Amino acid sequence: MSTGTTKLDVEVADVVIVNDLVKRFHFRRRDGGLLPTFSGGAHVVVEMRDGETSRLNPYSLMSSPLDTSEYTISVRRDDSGRGGSLFMHNRVRPGDAMVISYPVNLFSLDLRARKHLLIAGGIGITPFMAQTAQLAGQAGNFELHYSVRTAALATYADLLRQRHGRRVHLYHDDRGELIALDRLLATQPLGTHLYICGPKGMIEWARGRAAQAGWPAEAVHFEHFAAPQPGLPFDVTLAVSGKRIRVGEQQSLLEAIEAAGVDPPYLCRGGVCGQCETNVISCDGRFLHNDHWLTEEEHGSGAKIMPCVSRFEGRSLVLER
Ligand code: FES
Repeated sequence: MSTGTTKLDVEVADVVIVNDLVKRFHFRRRDGGLLPTFSGGAHVVVEMRDGETSRLNPYSLMSSPLDTSEYTISVRRDDSGRGGSLFMHNRVRPGDAMVISYPVNLFSLDLRARKHLLIAGGIGITPFMAQTAQLAGQAGNFELHYSVRTAALATYADLLRQRHGRRVHLYHDDRGELIALDRLLATQPLGTHLYICGPKGMIEWARGRAAQAGWPAEAVHFEHFAAPQPGLPFDVTLAVSGKRIRVGEQQSLLEAIEAAGVDPPYLCRGGVCGQCETNVISCDGRFLHNDHWLTEEEHGSGAKIMPCVSRFEGRSLVLER
């Protein structure tokens, strides 16, 4: 069994259209029991069986950790992705049986912090839905700064304001409103932790400003799952299991290895946790590294690959799997 990926049989209890791009899915246990406890920032991996194709995508849990009668996730439609979000939007209906992983938290709150400064962009709001519910339930000190493209795409902004009032600050891109991050970073009480979830550019900007302002790295938390990208098909030899596999255009290398009956470890399936790290035995070609785990030097060396998000173009590739 893959690391941290114990499975849960669930039923889709409800599907709710949130706005033009986002739908919310409610899962309940099929045996009627409570779901496992989790903490704010956790994600589950949702298995999508689409005929011969299997996709396993991670989504942040956004329901309150104080209520495990159901889990909820929100899925933003990506028309140019590999089809996972389109499958969720177009094919999943209330009453469907699905399989999800146990929750795993790679973006947890540091409860030693005196205050939590939360910075969200777009669909990056979802882990903060659970974290703010957890903090509010524990009388935690937090403020949330949430940047959206337009008011129509301000997913859950009204709900957050209703729940948390003036702790929630909203910024609209189309009105030219920007988070005054430098001022925020300069005015927090000692012992504040910073959390960032949103587009890659936003995460890099906020981390960079925090480093510049002298925030210690251990007080800065961020989450950015890279969705596996489609690409040209390629062949791989798995040296340990003695298999030769083809990675399809819409398939990740990790999915192709699993489809061949090999069970590699994984947690995030988004290039951030390091679990799926795989040694390269030989290659004749170039890697398309999409992970946030390996260093630039490791990417350059060609000695390792993260098969959940990275691909290969070339004549031959042999991996230690
Ligand atoms: S499964 Fe987390 S980096 Fe690949």
